[in-house]
This record gives sequence, C-alpha cells and structure tokens, in this order.
Amino acid sequence: MTFYQQMKHGLWLSLVLFVSAVLAEEQLTTPQKWQLLSPDQQISVELVLSGEALTYQVSYRGKAVLKPSVLGLTFKGQPPLKTGLLADKVSSRSQDLNWQPVWGQRSNIRDHFNELTLQLHESKAPGRRFTLVFRSYDDGVAFRYQLPAQAALAGDLVITDELTEFAFARNFSAWWVEAYRNLSFEYQYMNSALSSVSVAHTPLTLTDDGIAVAVHEAALVDYSSMTLRNITDNHITLKADLMPWNGTNPALASDTLPDRVYTKAPFQSPWRTIQIAPTEAALLNSSLILNLNEPMAAGTDTSYIKPGKYMGIWWEMHIGEKDWSPGPLQGATTERALQYIDFASQHDIDGLLVEGWNQGWEGQWWQRPPTFSFTKPVKGFDIDKVAAYAKAKGVGLIGHHETAAGISYYEQQMADAFKYYQRLGIHSVKMGYVGKRLDGREWHDGQFMVQHFKKVVDTAAGHQVMVNAHETVKDTGLSRTYPNLMTRESVRGMEYNGGSPDTGNAPNHTVIIPFTRGLSGPIDFTPGIFNFNYQKHRPNNRVPSTLVNQLALYVTLYSPLQMVADLPENYAPGGKLHPAFAFIDAVPTDWQQSMALDGKIGQYLVMARQDKHSKRWFVGATSNEQARTLTLPLSFLDADKTYDAVLYLDAPDAHWQNNPMAYQIQRRTVHSKAVLALALAPGGGAAIEFVPR
Ligand code: NOJ
Ligand code: CA
Repeated sequence: MTFYQQMKHGLWLSLVLFVSAVLAEEQLTTPQKWQLLSPDQQISVELVLSGEALTYQVSYRGKAVLKPSVLGLTFKGQPPLKTGLLADKVSSRSQDLNWQPVWGQRSNIRDHFNELTLQLHESKAPGRRFTLVFRSYDDGVAFRYQLPAQAALAGDLVITDELTEFAFARNFSAWWVEAYRNLSFEYQYMNSALSSVSVAHTPLTLTDDGIAVAVHEAALVDYSSMTLRNITDNHITLKADLMPWNGTNPALASDTLPDRVYTKAPFQSPWRTIQIAPTEAALLNSSLILNLNEPMAAGTDTSYIKPGKYMGIWWEMHIGEKDWSPGPLQGATTERALQYIDFASQHDIDGLLVEGWNQGWEGQWWQRPPTFSFTKPVKGFDIDKVAAYAKAKGVGLIGHHETAAGISYYEQQMADAFKYYQRLGIHSVKMGYVGKRLDGREWHDGQFMVQHFKKVVDTAAGHQVMVNAHETVKDTGLSRTYPNLMTRESVRGMEYNGGSPDTGNAPNHTVIIPFTRGLSGPIDFTPGIFNFNYQKHRPNNRVPSTLVNQLALYVTLYSPLQMVADLPENYAPGGKLHPAFAFIDAVPTDWQQSMALDGKIGQYLVMARQDKHSKRWFVGATSNEQARTLTLPLSFLDADKTYDAVLYLDAPDAHWQNNPMAYQIQRRTVHSKAVLALALAPGGGAAIEFVPR
C-alpha cells in the first residue's frame, strides 16, 4: 500500500509529506521538508534537507523543543558526511503492537509509533549512501543512522565524530552529571541552566513549565556511549560527543579528532532519543527506551531468570566493620554466610551475595593490577558448604566478579569463572569494574566497555547466569534483547553513605535519580538500611534519610534485583524482628503496572506499582531534606474492591539528621475513592501496601 493509499484508508493520517520527488539539481537548491507526527499529534518532527545539511527540529504541543539541528558523521580520513545530500527514497510506516517483557516495571508494553525513513546519498565524491530512520512516539522522538555496505565505505572504518546536534529552543533547567571524569556516573547530580552544561552524560533531564525532556540513547550494542557537549560556552546547542578510545579527552589541548567507534559497513548507530512529557513525573511512565530495543531471539532460555531480593556480606565492609581482605576482619566467612542464609530463608529473600569470597583481595586491591582468582575461594570460606546450605534453605548464592577494571586479565578467566559458578548451581553474578580506566587506559563508557560487557552478558547467558553490574556502561534498554542483563549500578549508590570521605549522598539524591539515571533502566541502588548508628568506624558518614524513606525506595527506585542491604542483626536487633521489616518482606520486585503519580525532580516522588503475581498495590513516596504533606488519591485501585492498607509512616518527630528511626505503622480499610494525606519528615518517606479483600 502506498503512502497516499494509507492516507485514503485513514491508517496514518498523522504523517504529512510536503514534498517528495524533486529533480536532483533542484533538490540541492530548493530545501525539501518532511513532517512526522506522533500518533497523538502532540509531538512534531520536521526534517529539512538543503545543500548545506540535513536538519531535524522537534516541537511539542506547538512549542519548539529543538530548533533545526544538524545531522551527520565523520569517518577517519574522509570528509564529513553532512553536506550535498540528496534524498533517494522516502518511506513511512506505523506500528502499534504490545509486547511482554520477561520482567519489568510493566508486564505489558505498548509500542506505538510513526516512522519516516530517508535514504540519502552524497551528490559529490565519495558519493556515500546512508539512511536515517526517525520515529515519533507519544512519549518522544528517536532516530538512528544506518550505513549500508558500499564501495565508498569499504573495509575497516573509524568514526571520529558524530555531528548530531541538539539545538535546544529554550534555556531549560538541566539535571546532569559531567562526562570524562574518573568515576563515570558515580557523582551527585548538578542542577544548572542548560547553558552552563559543559559535557554531560545521558540521560540528561531538562525541565521547564509544562514540559520535561530527557535526551539519551537506546540499543547501544557495538558503539560508544553518547555524551552531550555544549558547542559554545553559555549557549544552548549541544552536540553528540562519543566517548573515545584510548582514554582520549577531546577537551584537552592537542587532541585532534580521536578514534571513537571502530566499525565496518553495514552498521547502524544506537537510537538517539528525546523523551518528552508534560510533567516530570510523566517522564517516568515512558517505555520508549525499551521499545527501541530488539525483542529477544526466539528460543532464548529464560528458565533461570528470576527477579527477586538479595542480601549480601557487603554493607559491613562499607561501614568498616569488616573487610574484603583475608585476615582478622575478613567478611567472607562460612559462618557469617550461614547466618545470612538463615535470615534470608526466613524472609523469602532469594539470594545471598558474598563479596571477598575469592582469592586476591589482600590490602589495597583497587590500587594495583588485579590479582583475583575467579575460581578459588579464600581460606575460611567453604564455598561448597555454603552453596549446599543455601540450596537446602531455598536461597541462591550470588557470585561476585570484581575485576578492578582489569579487563584482559579477567577475560582470560571468564569462561572458567562462569563454568565454576554453573557447577555450584549459581544463577546470578554481580560484576565490578572499580578503577579509573579499564586496563589502565579505556573509559568505562567507550566502545571497549560496550564490547566487553556484551561478552560478559553472552557468556553469563551461556551458563544460565543473571548479571548485575557495577561501574559498567550506562543502560540503554538492552535487557529487552538480553533478559539475563538484570540491573546495574551506573549511579552514586548507597555505598557512598557507608564510607565515602565526602560523608555520603545529599538527602535529595534519591529524588533526583529516578528522573535522570532511572530513565535508562533498573538501578542497583541497594536500599534498606535500618541502622543509622554506624559511626564507630565512619564518624562522618550518614544515610541521609529516615527509616521509612528506606522502605519507600523499594518502590520509587526500580530494580528487578533489589538488595536488602543492611545486616541481619540490624533487621532483628536482639533477635527480635523490626516491625517495619514487614514492608520489605512484602514488597515484590516484578510488576504488572507502574505509575509515577506525582513528583518534582530533586523534591519528591510518589510511585504506585502493582505486583505482577497478585492484585496487591504498593506505594512509595520520598522527599528531599524538606518536610511535606502529599495528597494521594487512590484512584489507581480497582473501583470495585476494598483494600486493607498497611501504612509505614514517619513519626511526627522523625528527621533524617537526628531522629531517622522514628516511624509508625497504621492500618486502614480503603477504596479507590479515598484520598490519603501523607506527612513526610525531612529526608522522609511513606510506604504503603494495599491488599484487596
Ligand atoms: C564498588 C561496588 O559498587 C560495590 O558494591 C562493591 O562492594 C565494591 N566495588 C567492591 O567490589
Ligand atoms: Ca560503585
């Protein structure tokens, strides 16, 4: 069916082609335009092709979001692929499908878009051909470059620059983490005018009255991460800056165009994404990033993939009670693991992570080239006994591969390491890449890491192992294709409250990251701290929240593997279970529905989620350092049901700084017409379970 026939049949009224077939010479002098509308017609993308360049611009509800922004690529030893372009073929299609992820925030996802594809070639030598695919969804815009195999792009190619611009129409308020730093994503977010951004990681979240925008990417499979650089200081046009190879930093003096991506035609770039929503909270209800990833291959083994909660011999190291090193403070001991397994099995906690289980953690392990063995347990940790005990108690042992950023060293042992875990019945591994550069040289966000991490995920799948990675590259929705890629850190997590010399995270951190980092995918933040008095070895550190805020994080921060991060004795002091632990006991990690109901980035967030396997609902609300009262209409509940609600609330005198543990538990009978008023303490929260009668 042709485009006009589609129009006639009313199948796709929203795409308007202004001009299509114009003679080649005319094409270079007379600009051509195409418009692509979202299914709900609120978002419009306009493409303009002139002899100078191909540009795109985006508007939302009639107001400009992006002004004309240039598209193009530069390959090493070739002129930029940008000017003198001719359109050979323009085609369009739309899609409206539903699909079901193996796990996730939503058990059913609608994938509904209009698409416009432009096939182009250069009018002059070298006459290269490429295709641009644009999609418009109700929740944003995406586009990618596709380079077909061709004589003009034969052999090995090096991309030295991606010319994609984001020429913003307004000086938005920007929430961002600076790129090209030693700890990748592990920083607190900055909030500034967009014009003050230097070079930012994505997702980069931008807000203004009546609109929230996030720029990111999807399906980063074999490319380098896109960061966004302000082209001119104090301006609002940003440009794609792909993380280069060899630890190069293009901002530093003499570096000319660095090698950024090694590839061969045919290839395609990841999708460049611009999520758009009317409110900040509505951004969190977008599935755009997942929708742009490929479905998993038919026949993918998912039998071993299980979302769940896990504990770890972990926090006691971060607060200085124990250590990863073998010796008197060794955390990984058989006896301690058995204690954790007992607690986990009593509370239906699915897994136990044991850090420091293997040989090679002596002393300052992060300061030297790695010495880890990934198949030899440390003295004092009887892994066979622990694995057998865990199995008998219905708890899964979780493996740990801390590489200390030594990729080549690790890859030599990787296959054996996964085989070793499979033999022990281990179906989950936590990865770690602590270090400034990989193999002393490469950025954690470059193509080197993207390629390595794909190997890890594939090898893990081959041995029926789920992956949770720390210090890895950012998420771009690949778990749709590779469902054993469960969760990752790529954020400044709870660990910083444990032992960071800067004393820990600010109270507003956890009401920033759902709106920024969280848009990219699951976060292994590791919530659930119940004991705030760990100053013995860490006199200056604090978890900057109330205990109830810690409960609410299980709902506001999404991860299919959620840590129950504190020590068993802190959940059951003197052997008596803390009453608020009942919420952690109850909260699931796999959801039927998820809805951000209300929120302001950096201030507060209210999330509601329904369990995937029952009719129960859960609400989590969190605040920054301010006290506030939030109104919660229960209209998300089934209208024809009555619910028993258990409310975990901050006590009236709770305060993250001096009274974090003050809480109350209330029980109420509610229905969908009720409206609750939730009083949150400074750094506080509210966590609610709704059980239908
Ligand atoms: C950093 C990780 O984020 C943390 O969770 C882990 O405990 C340490 N590295 C040691 O591997
Ligand atoms: Ca980390």
